[in-house]
This record gives sequence, C-alpha cells and structure tokens, in this order.
Amino acid sequence: MQRRSPTTPVAGVEASGIKPPPFSTSPETNLSLQTFRSSITFKMKYSQEDFQREQKAGMPPVAKADLTGKTVIITGANVGIGFEATKHLANMNPGKLVLVCRNATKGEEAAAVIKKETNFDRVEAWTMDQGDFSSISAFASRVEKDLDRVDILVANAGVADPKYSTTGDGWEQHLQVNHLGPTLLALLLLPKMMETAKKHNTIPRFVSVASDNHHWIDIEKQVIEAPNSMELASSKEYCSPSVMAGRYPASKLINLLAMRALDSRLPQTPPPVLFVTVSPGFCHSSLRRNLEPGPLLERMEKMLAIAFTTEEGSRQLVFGAVADEEENKLRASKAFIMKSKLQEPSDWVLSEDGKRAEEKIWNDTVEILGKVDNRVQKVVSEYLSA
Ligand SMILES: NC(=O)c1ccc[n+]([C@@H]2O[C@H](COP(=O)([O-])OP(=O)(O)OC[C@H]3O[C@@H](n4cnc5c(N)ncnc54)[C@H](OP(=O)(O)O)[C@@H]3O)[C@@H](O)[C@H]2O)c1
Repeated sequence: MQRRSPTTPVAGVEASGIKPPPFSTSPETNLSLQTFRSSITFKMKYSQEDFQREQKAGMPPVAKADLTGKTVIITGANVGIGFEATKHLANMNPGKLVLVCRNATKGEEAAAVIKKETNFDRVEAWTMDQGDFSSISAFASRVEKDLDRVDILVANAGVADPKYSTTGDGWEQHLQVNHLGPTLLALLLLPKMMETAKKHNTIPRFVSVASDNHHWIDIEKQVIEAPNSMELASSKEYCSPSVMAGRYPASKLINLLAMRALDSRLPQTPPPVLFVTVSPGFCHSSLRRNLEPGPLLERMEKMLAIAFTTEEGSRQLVFGAVADEEENKLRASKAFIMKSKLQEPSDWVLSEDGKRAEEKIWNDTVEILGKVDNRVQKVVSEYLSA
C-alpha cells in the first residue's frame, strides 16, 4: 500500500467509518494499522507510535489470585488467547472451570490438555456457538440449572473474516459473533451473577475481550441514524468490501460501546456485577486464519514481528478477571484495560457522537435480543436502570 500523507482522503472511507492513527516517518509504522483506510487524521491519545512502543515494551506479569470455591467460565477456550488464559485461571484453583467452545471435540481436547498441564481437574467442556442465538439461550439455561454460582465469565470468543457472510440467524457474522451474541450472553447470565453476588457476598465479573484498535475507528453517522443501526450495518447492501475491511474492529468497538452502556445501567457503588473490557494487545493467534493471501495478510504477517504471544495477551484477560477493583477501578463504563493499566477509551468513544452511538447501539441491540429470547426484556427491566 502506498504511503499517504496524514490528510489525504482515500476513496470509500466514509463507508468504512475508519480513521487511521497519525502516520510516522518510521518505516515500521507502515506495517501497522494502515490496514484500515481513512479520510480524516487527527491527533489521538493512542497513536500508531504508541501502539508500536507498547507492543515492544513487553507485557506485565500475570495477575494472581486465589479462586478457591469460585466458578469461572471462559468462551473460545480451545485455542489462542482464551486457551492460555484458561491455563492461568486453572492454576488459581477455582471450584469449577468451564471451557466453552463451539465444537465439542475441540473443547474436550482442550480440557484434557489443561488438566494434564496444570494438574487441575475440575474442568468441564461445554458447547456454545456465538453465531447461533438458540445455542446461547440453551447455554444460559444450562448455566442456570447446573451451576450453583458464576463468579467470572470471560467473553473471549471472537471472529475476524473480511468476507461478507451471515449466520444462520441472518446477521452479518462479526455483528453476531463479536457483539450480539456476547451481549445476549451477558444479559442472560446477569441474574445468575447477581444471585452469586448476594449469596456469596462477592462481586462477580464479566470480562469482555475488546481491542486497542477501537482507537482508530468510529461508527458512521448513517449507521447510528438508521431506524435500527444493527440492521443497516448487517445488510448486504451496506457491507461493501471497504466496509468489510474494517468490520472486525468496528464490531469490537460496537461491543465496547454496548458493554459501557450495560455497565452504566447497573447500580454504581458498588456494582453488583463488574463489567470489564480488556485489550490483549496485538498477538500471534489463529484470528487471522480467514485472511486470504494479499496485501492485507502480508502487512499483518510483517506486524507479527512485534506481536505478543498468546500467553502474553492472555494476561490481560486474567487481569480483568482477578485484579483488585479498589486499586484498579476496572469498570467498563469508566475505562478499558490495556497492559494491566486503566486507560481511557478513545476520544471518539468519549465524544458526544460516541455517547449518542452508545445509547443507540444499546437500544437497538436490546430490541433485537428481546425478540430472540423472552428473558431479555425481563432482565433489562428488573436489573438495569433506563
Ligand atoms: N489476536 C489479537 O491480536 C487480538 C487483539 C485484540 C483482541 N483480540 C480478541 O481476542 C479474542 C481471542 O482471539 P484469538 O486471537 O485468541 O483468536 P483465535 O485463536 O482465532 O480464537 C478465537 C476463539 O473464538 C472461537 N470462536 C470463533 N467463532 C465462534 C463462534 N461462532 N462461537 C463460539 N466460539 C467462536 C474460536 O473457536 P474455533 O477454534 O472453533 O474457531 C476460538 O476458540 C477475540 O475476541 C479477539 O477479537 C485478539
């Protein structure tokens, strides 16, 4: 890709709604987030230089805690960052560790490896496909029936695939797997987590795996102003190749906004359940498995020179799950966590446009999910403020 001046507009960008970090003169910079196209450049608090520096500076050590008696659930646990986080959590002696995978065999295999490598055997493999609402509903019913408590849920499963495809429920894949699915999961498990809080005098956590790439994108006005933002964003007509080039980070941003909205609707001091959003940083993993040979994959492969290992990235999931809240003020509506530190989310998230987008995306998401599972409206009206 040709180097562009920071202010050069690029065709088709408006549709992608993506803004790049400021460009540097460093050749390495070019390897990075020019993956995403752009029309406007502005000074932002997490620039491409910051990204490069943070990646090279190394990852803080893993947080430790005693999880005796606690029930921990982690999605997308069979591989990558989720698998490594599961090992760390197994080493903290939870009462029960539930690995959630969409494929039962992969889940059983991962559970067997975890048992062998950690000598921890209270591991169970459950299935759930985040691209299938009925599977999430069935999973939530099973949690309600079979688990006494839920102390930590790490919502890690995610997908990246620049090709447009829809799930069996008819939604563009990223929107469902990376946003609508995990939000349905959060809402359906909220009663169980609230019950856990009350019964055990504890504050359960829902850890959402976000991304630092949300700093370089926003959501297009056309989407926010649509009667239902998610329906427009999901439609084949809207999802041009340029939109799909930015769809993965956009879906992570949409989910980050939804987690902020959900968290801000819970009682404030203390929250009965703590919603936390974390970024693992840019890591080696199979997330790029769907990229086809071409300039995008080539650039990504070059960037791998500064990528964290999946184990290093997993430390941020563990941090979100167990780090001390008093010290770290982890709440999703206030901050997001990167490199084991409280960070502000992007300027756009905090802007008036970002706040409007947060409200709209939340309302549209609840409307959609209310039609998918009739428990959703009850949870929203009983547990969340308007
Ligand atoms: N790698 C990075 O640089 C990076 C940076 C920021 C954020 N993240 C986030 O970190 C999380 C983990 O990603 P990773 O890098 O470890 O990628 P990965 O190795 O591809 O792992 C993704 C996990 O999600 C599961 N998954 C995908 N689609 C699913 C579905 N429909 N239902 C249920 N599970 C599904 C995968 O299961 P299968 O094995 O069955 O496909 C796998 O277990 C993702 O949320 C990703 O967005 C990654």
